[in-house]
Amino acid sequence: MRNFEARPAARVSGAVAVPGDKSISHRSLMLSGIAQGVSEVSGFLASEDCLATMTAMRALGVRIEQRSPTHVMVHGVGLRGLRGAGRALDMGNAGTAMRLFTGLLSAQAFDSQLIGDASLMKRPMERVAKPLRAMGADVRTHDGTPPVDIGGGRDLHGIAYGMPVASAQVKSAILLAALFADSATTVVAPAVTRDHSERMLLSCGVRLDIEGLRVTLHPPQQLDAQRIEVPGDFSSAAFFIVAGLLGASAGGLLIENVGLNPTRTGLLDILRSMGAQIDIVNLREGAEPVADLRVHASMLRGVRVPADLVPLAIDELPVLFVAAACADGETVVTGAEELRVKESDRIAAMSAGLAALGVTHTVLPDGMRIEGRGEGVAFGGGEIDSHGDHRIAMSFAVASLRASKPLIVRDVANVGTSFPGFVDLARSVGLDVRESGA
Ligand code: S3P
Repeated sequence: MRNFEARPAARVSGAVAVPGDKSISHRSLMLSGIAQGVSEVSGFLASEDCLATMTAMRALGVRIEQRSPTHVMVHGVGLRGLRGAGRALDMGNAGTAMRLFTGLLSAQAFDSQLIGDASLMKRPMERVAKPLRAMGADVRTHDGTPPVDIGGGRDLHGIAYGMPVASAQVKSAILLAALFADSATTVVAPAVTRDHSERMLLSCGVRLDIEGLRVTLHPPQQLDAQRIEVPGDFSSAAFFIVAGLLGASAGGLLIENVGLNPTRTGLLDILRSMGAQIDIVNLREGAEPVADLRVHASMLRGVRVPADLVPLAIDELPVLFVAAACADGETVVTGAEELRVKESDRIAAMSAGLAALGVTHTVLPDGMRIEGRGEGVAFGGGEIDSHGDHRIAMSFAVASLRASKPLIVRDVANVGTSFPGFVDLARSVGLDVRESGA
């Protein structure tokens, strides 16, 4: 098993550029693969999750040249050009890949089967299967979980669907299927969710009407090939944002080229309300907004996190819990029951880790109440189980900045699903993290 040993480090400083955005990288391969002509993707995230999508697109007949790990040319086969893989498609740990492929493949002429690793095989898939069936698709799950079996040759029709959960994966799966339907499809979300699919579909020339939480897709004749510049992943930057707040030396920690799509940056709002000093510099507006962040060591105070910010910070809540544990006073997060069905039950995994560090907290069904220890009160050391969850592992690596003794974080191999090179980058700014184990 791979583990981190994270020794207490006093300060972080310098500059980092985090790898490309995972959500955008998955979508870049899927949409370019069914576009007309050759698309060029730069800044691609060559992580295990996105490489699972690449392998699957190749198995479906799309030629993809990886000129370097991050520079990819996708030879689109056109809207009707995918071919059956003739074998199960393995999505590994990637929930995004499995849910989006369920949408894309439910509209094809051939049958497909989607499988994944032990974590993914336990995750809920009816949330995508149900609306796709309403469109006429043949999607079968096993008691709600994978394998997902998809029967081909169905004619899909447009639907109007009110999503019960605020999920960008569900919305995107429906929009992908809707590209092939005989009439327009409308999806209404109960809260704001990330809008990378909508932005990329618009760049491909697809007609979308977007009004608040409602998106209507008009089935196109074709998708145009594109040049996609994938920004750094805000969710990966989040670990360095919190590291900088806990321990940046004078001058701050610079995080370069971070995607700042407003549907992703709830963590910035939450941290600022806690007293965080984070400067946004060099803002560039393209298909996705991008900027550099300068993070200053800040005294944090506990807050009650507003419900509307939770979906905009859902992947960053584990590292927010670490920040909250270091803040002065109580932080309360509710409305985050989705954390229970991520790569691990992130409420349970964070609770066990915080308990190992001696942080007083209360587990809620849909969140957590955390008693911050305040500035200058260190955690103990100890052993923490990441439960094979990349974001839990990296969150506790950051917690080492406030520990008095080394932390051992167990089962960290899956950090490579979203953040290849995390240890080297963390070490380059002063975190004392090493990876070991068979
Ligand atoms: C993602 C959507 C979110 C997020 C996941 C990536 C996406 O999941 O947690 O890491 O790329 O669409 P949900 O759609 O389940 O909220």
